[in-house]
Amino acid sequence: MNAAGRGDAPGSGRYGEAVFRPGQPDEGGRVDLGALAYDDITLARLRALGAGPGWRCLDVGAGTGTVSRRLLDEAGVTSVLAVDRDVRFLTGRPVPGLDVLEADVTAPDFDPGRFRLVHARFVLMHLPERLRLVTALAGLVEPGGVLVLGDAVDLTSDRAPDNPYARVMRAMWQGLRDAIGTDVTWVPSCPRLLRDAGLAPVAAEIHVPPLQPGSPISRFWVDTWERSREAMLATGLVDDAAVDAAIRYLDSDACAALSAGLLTAWGRKPAET
Ligand SMILES: C[S@@+](CC[C@H](N)C(=O)[O-])C[C@H]1O[C@@H](n2cnc3c(N)ncnc32)[C@H](O)[C@@H]1O
Repeated sequence: MNAAGRGDAPGSGRYGEAVFRPGQPDEGGRVDLGALAYDDITLARLRALGAGPGWRCLDVGAGTGTVSRRLLDEAGVTSVLAVDRDVRFLTGRPVPGLDVLEADVTAPDFDPGRFRLVHARFVLMHLPERLRLVTALAGLVEPGGVLVLGDAVDLTSDRAPDNPYARVMRAMWQGLRDAIGTDVTWVPSCPRLLRDAGLAPVAAEIHVPPLQPGSPISRFWVDTWERSREAMLATGLVDDAAVDAAIRYLDSDACAALSAGLLTAWGRKPAET
């Protein structure tokens, strides 16, 4: 990885443009499937960290806003500012306490204020500026507050058992990297990046949702592959038949594979003395 946090051959396209365009039919449904698979674990962690009444929160790259809304409805936080480059899925479902801001978090002048909780899930992995952003997001946390980052951990390494799913997942990560600069290789370093950003203590956990036919996570991967099929084929690692075989495999009892996990890492900003 180079100093900008980019790999050897990062893509020049951007999330939401080259792939995962919000205007594509039911892109919100795809993001919601991922949320269904991971929201319970995210909410449990945010509540364990203290999110509750009195907390002002920032949800960066909020997507369809499931975490933002559950922070308000279930944790009872005071307010959530949900930020996204495209807010169509956020403005469609307003709730009291939810403020929506359309903004590019990579913009040098992105400065929406200071918050007790700053949260970003499945966002930094798609942004080549990720290392700078860890520091920038830490700067938005008020003293005593917490920064929580969630990103994907790939479990289809060369040593993982070979199967139709693993072949297509490897092609997906490579295709997304070539197309938009997505990179998950740095994710295990997340706790250290938080520490380097001046947060302490830091900690992390990983959740791997079970791949079962018809489950939200299995449907999420199928939909994600369909939307990134062109990028996967361009890698030369798979062809259409291999993608179709992986889709059938995921929906069958033959499936014996590990989903990508969600690594959630958090760190506290020291309180002012
Ligand atoms: C994979 S989705 C994750 C959505 C949500 N955080 C979740 O976990 O369900 C990534 C989100 O980040 C947003 N995003 C991507 N690049 C962004 C940027 N530069 N600034 C703000 N939001 C961005 C996308 O529009 C999308 O809604």
